[in-house]
Amino acid sequence: MNDFMPLRGIDYIQFMVSNAKQATYFYRQMFGFDLVAYAGLETGVRHQASYVLKQNDVRFVLTAAYKADHPLADFVSKHGDGVRDVAFSVDDVEYAYREATARGARSAMEPTVLEDSNGVIHMAAIHTYGEVIHTFINRDQYRGVFLPGFREQYEPGNNIGLMEVDHIVGNVELGGMEKWVKFYEDVLGFKELIHFSDDDISTEYSALMSKVVQNGGGRIKLPINEPADGKRKSQIEEYLDYNTGPGVQHIALRTDDVIETVRKLHSNGMKFTYVPETYYEDLPERVGLIEEDMEAIGKLGILVDRDDEGYLLQIFTKTAQDRPTLFYEIIQRKGSRGFGKGNFKALFEAIEREQALRGNL
Ligand code: FE2
Repeated sequence: MNDFMPLRGIDYIQFMVSNAKQATYFYRQMFGFDLVAYAGLETGVRHQASYVLKQNDVRFVLTAAYKADHPLADFVSKHGDGVRDVAFSVDDVEYAYREATARGARSAMEPTVLEDSNGVIHMAAIHTYGEVIHTFINRDQYRGVFLPGFREQYEPGNNIGLMEVDHIVGNVELGGMEKWVKFYEDVLGFKELIHFSDDDISTEYSALMSKVVQNGGGRIKLPINEPADGKRKSQIEEYLDYNTGPGVQHIALRTDDVIETVRKLHSNGMKFTYVPETYYEDLPERVGLIEEDMEAIGKLGILVDRDDEGYLLQIFTKTAQDRPTLFYEIIQRKGSRGFGKGNFKALFEAIEREQALRGNL
């Protein structure tokens, strides 16, 4: 079937934060990003400061408002530090915007051309769940480091082997999952890839439902969760509570060597969700032979899951800010294109132990 919305991939993920200078230090110290560009008062940008971080194909932009009257200052007081924009690289921005809005997307920014001595950038944006937007961007005619207004500011980081964004998960309100799956299908030509029912991913106390949509080219995978009924508060409800509504729950970053990446994260001070030792007792039985050193896997708390196509290794960080909202996943794929279905139960039990510690279970 004809792909009416040929998205090339994720160009960048932008976070609104209260203090971009300090958030940049966290991301560089923990994940080893290079700082590549900066925009702010010193570059003639009057209303916000932004830092562009890069590691292989992962590009994060951290932005903070200077003053309370900034249109996005409310974003941080409402949601805390979090993802504002998941930007898609496209061939033709005007076409993508026209097509998406004609198919029902709400406009966030009309097609705009930005220009400086380095060339021309085309941008437009649409709204998705919560206050998250998708920018369409084309930088084919631009030689600059990021966007007009940014200056190059290169400070190398201690690369930990993050290669690209594997998937980005959104939490939406109860009953909202189908609506947002349909949004991605209708507006952006995504297809439903996998569906997890609450039987697959429920524990005694907490449940959720999840569907994964992926774009026509298969490069962009966006799981969408909604809470399901459990005996106690679902972890998705906790997120919605603290995020004040829907938003990005976690970003999975792909590595080619999960053991090395996680070792470096540990030594940088990253904290991960607790995995009980009992998880590893039946692991060889559950996943069979794997190439990695089982002892190292167990010591680092890495989870393993197998399906028809192969296996994957994954680990989840604790939340990256005080609010129990956004966290990260590190993932290595060995043939599997799944999302760790077999680990859902183990993970949720681990998450709930922490939710209980915060008095929210
Ligand atoms: Fe994930």
